Amino acid sequence: MKIFAGCLIVSFSVYSAVIYWLPNTEAAMLPKAVAGKMVWQQKNCVACHQIYGLGGFLGPDLTNVYSGKGPDYIKAFVQAGTITMPAFNLTDEELENLTSFLQQVDASGYSDPRKHKINFDGTIERK
Ligand code: HEC
Repeated sequence: MKIFAGCLIVSFSVYSAVIYWLPNTEAAMLPKAVAGKMVWQQKNCVACHQIYGLGGFLGPDLTNVYSGKGPDYIKAFVQAGTITMPAFNLTDEELENLTSFLQQVDASGYSDPRKHKINFDGTIERK
């Protein structure tokens, strides 16, 4: 019983230490992208858009919009809006930060499951 409790305590301590020392993802982001995440949150883009499939469904998923459509397209879209998306009139700096955030999100992986191939062992790969 004591050995079992000891194992639990050791496991808990090791696990906590590992979690504590894992790199903070926000610290790994460029400061510009961190500022861009604030714009993303303040303007509530997630009410209509998803990142990795999570968010509102009025507009498309934006995880890979940066590599798909490019920074100029994103900036033009956000500034001008469309009939279904409001125009945001951001400052140049906000726009730059927002684009940098979407660039980092894009670099983190691919979200569209239609473009994934499911392997026999359950892992997925991009087609
Ligand atoms: C009220 C809902 C709404 C909000 C809020 C919103 N969008 Fe949109 N967005 C849309 C819709 C709907 C579309 C598709 C519009 C179209 O194709 O005409 C869209 C399209 C886009 C596109 C083009 C995507 C593509 O693949 O062509 C980008 C980029 C985009 N939005 C960025 C943003 C950003 C960044 C924010 C926050 C600053 C934001 N949107 C906030 C509704 C919204």
